[in-house]
Amino acid sequence: MQTVNTLAQLQPLVNSWRLAGKRVALVPTMGNLHEGHLRLMEVALQQADVVVATIFVNPSQFGPGEDFDGYPRTEQQDQQQLAAANTDCLFMPSVQEVYGDRPQTIVSVPRLASLHCGQTRPGHFDGVATIVCKLFNMVQPHCAVFGLKDFQQFTVIKTMVHDLNMPIDIIGVETVRDASGLAKSSRNSYLSDSEKSTAALLHQTLCQTRDAITNGNRNYSELAQQALLALQNAGFRPDYFNICQRDTLLPAQTSDQALVILAAAWLGKARLIDNLSFCL
Ligand code: PAJ
Repeated sequence: MQTVNTLAQLQPLVNSWRLAGKRVALVPTMGNLHEGHLRLMEVALQQADVVVATIFVNPSQFGPGEDFDGYPRTEQQDQQQLAAANTDCLFMPSVQEVYGDRPQTIVSVPRLASLHCGQTRPGHFDGVATIVCKLFNMVQPHCAVFGLKDFQQFTVIKTMVHDLNMPIDIIGVETVRDASGLAKSSRNSYLSDSEKSTAALLHQTLCQTRDAITNGNRNYSELAQQALLALQNAGFRPDYFNICQRDTLLPAQTSDQALVILAAAWLGKARLIDNLSFCL
């Protein structure tokens, strides 16, 4: 695996692969890799001839008072894991390399960005869309792989690629979970042992709500209220629990067939997000 930190090092590599007719996949990450990230690498290898992973803790997607400084950085372990996963290239640029001096341009998908996580994290999805657009321009991949765990992020990226006619296939990968059902996340390291067992309740609550819906309950606002209460009683501080139409992420109507339940809740120092999508 070649590790590079600058665009000047990265571009000749990618150009040589593209000239040789190879299909290039990109897997963007913020590091502190776990089995969820490694699953994306596996899928990328199935989809392409060469895989570029990026590790970049992107300042523009963290709001004031969020965990940018404390975000877990484990670059040596990450490099070992990526090399063992047959990654061809790791691109690990500095903030200066990516943003330069006084950048002015922001990529925004405003309607989607204002919903759900966007309500409590204003600017977050502009930061995500901007960095993903920049990584696409720097790496110029044929395809890019993202986790469906971040369902709203995935929808924002798909929409950006569609709206801006970017010639990149976006591939979504199912969420990798602990045996308890807790979605793997870099932020799980903020949880104590007892919080970890409580955390599994987020996924259980999503499953219970999904089961109620598939069994015929269409009172979505009451189901969401019950779920919020169950999470609160278990010790979470929920941000939202929203039953949505899967493509627009707007509140589900009783006639909608493709649904996703999106949830975010604080537990101790960790803000956990999870979702469940299904069809009626
Ligand atoms: P990060 O949280 O490091 O996640 C990188 C990728 O891994 C994302 O596509 C995310 O959805 C996926 N992922 C995380 N946990 C997963 C799990 N349990 N199962 C499957 N996939 C999982 O998401 C980001 O970084 C950033 O916002 C980024 C897209 C890199 C832009 O900065």
